[in-house]
Amino acid sequence: MAINWYPGHMKKAHDAIEKALAQVDAVLEIRDARIPQSSRNEQLERLTARKPRIILLNKKDMAQAAETERWMAALRRDGQRAIAVEATRERPARLIYEAAATLLEDQRAKRERRAIINREIRLLVMGIPNVGKSTVINALVERRTAEVGDLPGITKHERWIKTEADLLLLDTPGILPTKLEEARAMRLAFTGAIRDDVLPEQDIGLELIRLLMARVPEALAERYHLSGLSDPLEVMEEIARQIGALVKGGEADYTRTARRVIDDYRKMRFGRLTLEPAP
Ligand code: G4P
Repeated sequence: MAINWYPGHMKKAHDAIEKALAQVDAVLEIRDARIPQSSRNEQLERLTARKPRIILLNKKDMAQAAETERWMAALRRDGQRAIAVEATRERPARLIYEAAATLLEDQRAKRERRAIINREIRLLVMGIPNVGKSTVINALVERRTAEVGDLPGITKHERWIKTEADLLLLDTPGILPTKLEEARAMRLAFTGAIRDDVLPEQDIGLELIRLLMARVPEALAERYHLSGLSDPLEVMEEIARQIGALVKGGEADYTRTARRVIDDYRKMRFGRLTLEPAP
């Protein structure tokens, strides 16, 4: 199964980003710390490749701390600048500003030498749906303004957002890559990046059970009082019995069971769990 994602949305986002790119200093790419690989959008990365980039791994509270450290080290080895935050609790303006200022050091030093006053740092914010883009922006914002018309080089009517520290943000629509292979689509569904009504919930639930069996078997067994099961479908049926998700005749209600397991995963009832181990 390869999923082809709304090409119409993609085209619109592409155009908007292309237009905005000339006005920003760098890109702030938000990813999900649980799936740092799958939560990329390679197409938008290619489109914005000529700008320096900060990768922000959000929801670090949901991922395993040691794995996040490994991911950051791997990204840095790859020449990327990466930071990890929990946007629901932290206000990372200073952290982002410093990362951006370091990235843009040469450019800004050159301007200073030419006696040009360095203005605030302008960032294009991008990220796939549900990655926490709005939460990150809200955690940075001092006051939201629709018009910052009197700033040099800024197109009117764009939604620039003033933030703490000296950052100015331009938001973009949350967009998934247009093509996703199945395993990746599943991980995106587990984390809520793909809406629950897009893929069959039973399949998502079964795949999630398979993953939990491999990664956190004790937590899974404890949560649903399971013992000695090795087949994911049997486990799903046993969970259905344990939570009373049955249809007439006593058969498992697979959809309800899937929903429960997905919900439990998202509410971290199996603990912090990075779904993609660092390379
Ligand atoms: P988006 O703009 O990228 O689509 O994402 P948004 O900020 O709306 O965040 C999506 C969900 O992720 C929200 O949960 C938000 O509270 C949560 N979230 C964002 N950042 C963090 C973080 O650092 N840690 C944790 N644990 N959660 C975070 P929600 O309001 O419950 O929405 P939903 O999950 O019901 O969609």
